[in-house]
Amino acid sequence: MSEQNVVLTDSASNKSTALPVVSGTLGDPALDIAKLNKDTGYYTFDPGFVSTASTKSAITFIDGDKGILLYRGYPIEQLAKQSNFLEVAYLLINGELPTPDQSSAFEHEVTHHTMMQESLRHFLNGFHYDAHPMAMLCGSVSVLSAFYHDTLDINDPEQRRLAAIRLIAKVPTIAAAAYRYSIGWPIRYPRNNLEYVTRFLHMMFEVPSEPLQLSPVAAKALDLLFILHADHEQNASTSTVRLVGSTGANPYACVAAGIAALWGPAHGGANEAVLKMLNEIGSADNVSKAVEKAKDKNSGFRLMGFGHRVYKNFDPRATIIREMCHKVLADLGVNDPMLDIAMKLEEVALKDPYFVERKLYPNVDFYSGIIYKALKIPTEMFTVMFAIARTAGWVAHWLEQHNDKDSKIGRPRQIYTGATNRDYVPIDKR
Ligand code: CMC
Repeated sequence: MSEQNVVLTDSASNKSTALPVVSGTLGDPALDIAKLNKDTGYYTFDPGFVSTASTKSAITFIDGDKGILLYRGYPIEQLAKQSNFLEVAYLLINGELPTPDQSSAFEHEVTHHTMMQESLRHFLNGFHYDAHPMAMLCGSVSVLSAFYHDTLDINDPEQRRLAAIRLIAKVPTIAAAAYRYSIGWPIRYPRNNLEYVTRFLHMMFEVPSEPLQLSPVAAKALDLLFILHADHEQNASTSTVRLVGSTGANPYACVAAGIAALWGPAHGGANEAVLKMLNEIGSADNVSKAVEKAKDKNSGFRLMGFGHRVYKNFDPRATIIREMCHKVLADLGVNDPMLDIAMKLEEVALKDPYFVERKLYPNVDFYSGIIYKALKIPTEMFTVMFAIARTAGWVAHWLEQHNDKDSKIGRPRQIYTGATNRDYVPIDKR
């Protein structure tokens, strides 16, 4: 901690309080307000945690003004070009890129934990046939805690590590099974001779009646999407995982809570919402009308895939995805009118003073849905895809939290605005 302080003066009492400044290796410094209430009687008020750092973390760094995203110090652009998802998962969890031996051992371990218990498969049968796959994923990941009593001792580092491996390995298996259940197809078991992303595509699309012809473009594109979605520091779902983790809950319960948080349209549900929105817009001719509607606060309509709490210049993931979107569609020979609508929407919005003034740019979800669609992944699965990738980040944060000696239960305060003390009125007197 630095010696620097920021002095706050209470204009009512004229008393001053020195708040220590906490700095990391990169990014804006923060004021340490942990003792503020004890020293002054004040709390801080920060709805949505716009100005609040909830933890120290060495995993991911974002500079929202410059459009920089680093995983463990490595720029996302370099990882997107040169790495693969499983290596990125290793990096997020362990802090360093793996050596060839470490990489093979990690891949071997993940591969050999991909099966799900048969009784978990039977559990899936309990869902209604049209259940949303996010509901099935959320429920089933939480249920994993009922199967793995042997990894629930969160004080044992080896059990924590194994739980992290199991989650990275099994979430794609559960996700694919949830999808196949929803369309009435028999589930496919994970094949150990395939690598992570190809194995997932097999579990999604292979049918017993004929061999699956998988385009390498599809596997490469999905791997890249997984890299881009793998972590994003203290976003809503990761903060949820950490908040639940702070209570000492088991890792499966923590990640299930993260999946629930991701589901919302303001977060991971945006990729599904983008495609629904583009469908509703229907044609590039209707784009200006949609932009006008998004500017009208009374319409309740926002441009999905636009804006970000942290990125106020551009989302570097969106830049990579946009380029990939054109390439994937060209390579797969897909001519999707949604892409034309999306490009027109981007063009119109980026010229519009409303979006310019508020620094609203396309985010990671704006183009990802069009790529998923080209890969024949159904719309209801889009957020599930995000969850598969983000599991790597969630477990990395959960592990980091459990190695942090300063970690304590998360318990925000509130500004109470309800009734003041009053006496109970018996029902016959009300
Ligand atoms: N369309 C129209 N107006 C918007 C939009 C949008 N997509 N996003 C923000 N605004 C306006 C908002 O109405 C407000 O205007 P004003 O200052 O006049 O009141 C201003 O921009 C600031 O918005 P905010 O809601 O205070 O910003 P936030 O940081 O709380 O919200 C956000 C960030 C991502 C939730 C929001 O931009 C949004 O709802 N975007 C659409 C949903 C979306 O694409 N979410 C995916 C985020 S990236 C992936 C992920 O995190 O999972």
